[in-house]
Amino acid sequence: MAEQARRPRGPTLGVVGCGAMGTAVAELLGHGGFPVLLAGGRRRTADRLASTIPGAAAAPLETVAHEAQLVILATSLDVSQREIVPRIHGHLAGKVVVDVSNPTPADLSASAHDSAGEMLAELLPKSPIVKALNCVSARRLRMLAHGGPAPTVPIAGDDLAAKQCVTYVLRRLGLDVADAGPLCHSKWIEGLAELLRRLGSEEGLGDAVGFRLLRLDQVDRTPAGRAAIVPADRYEFGKE
Ligand SMILES: NC(=O)c1ccc[n+]([C@@H]2O[C@H](COP(=O)([O-])OP(=O)(O)OC[C@H]3O[C@@H](n4cnc5c(N)ncnc54)[C@H](OP(=O)(O)O)[C@@H]3O)[C@@H](O)[C@H]2O)c1
Repeated sequence: MAEQARRPRGPTLGVVGCGAMGTAVAELLGHGGFPVLLAGGRRRTADRLASTIPGAAAAPLETVAHEAQLVILATSLDVSQREIVPRIHGHLAGKVVVDVSNPTPADLSASAHDSAGEMLAELLPKSPIVKALNCVSARRLRMLAHGGPAPTVPIAGDDLAAKQCVTYVLRRLGLDVADAGPLCHSKWIEGLAELLRRLGSEEGLGDAVGFRLLRLDQVDRTPAGRAAIVPADRYEFGKE
């Protein structure tokens, strides 16, 4: 019975790239109980990483793209565009692809698009792209695995069902998720990553800096029928 409880369950998730971000994402997924398939630039890196994560296995890029039900691209935008997408776009057709990348100024100036999310969508027209995890640092993700506070992950995409899948996975990992709207809003999320990066370096906050959306989560109707936002803790008042 205990053995069964530990067995990975849920959709098989593919992680492409075993660097800082790929490692953090794969560890979180594996420890969150998902079966994980890993592809790295060098097979040895993926093999080594897979051996440390429960429910993970390394495989060639094409196999990962073919067998995984959802694929997370944790490589630089440039590598995804030049090397990865041309090899696996056929395998990815109809599958949710998560783009965690942040474009460089050179990526943006070489493209007619405003965001990495849209650049990948142009190359993968048969795959719903969801922008996610790009404004959470790898270090912050690894802290989450050790019980650190959960940051908010804004996501963007044009396919609602794809965003629901990604939301399900991220929430199962303990992350807070905020739907930022269609894929063209990726530029705002990518801008937030740049802001966090600057705060981290210029304000001396380091690379574990994160973002958390605070919500006023209860809405009351006034007698006039107009919505009035009330503090989330309103009903906690006077309990002591
Ligand atoms: N680091 C962060 O905190 C962070 C946070 C948010 C978003 N991101 C985004 O995440 C992406 C990855 O960043 P990173 O910091 O993880 O970079 P990184 O540490 O340099 O890792 C990139 C990985 O891509 C792999 N790779 C290269 N060619 C490949 C191929 N053909 N197939 C599969 N894998 C290949 C490399 O593997 P080999 O070493 O084996 O060649 C390397 O391990 C970037 O788009 C970045 O903008 C990063």
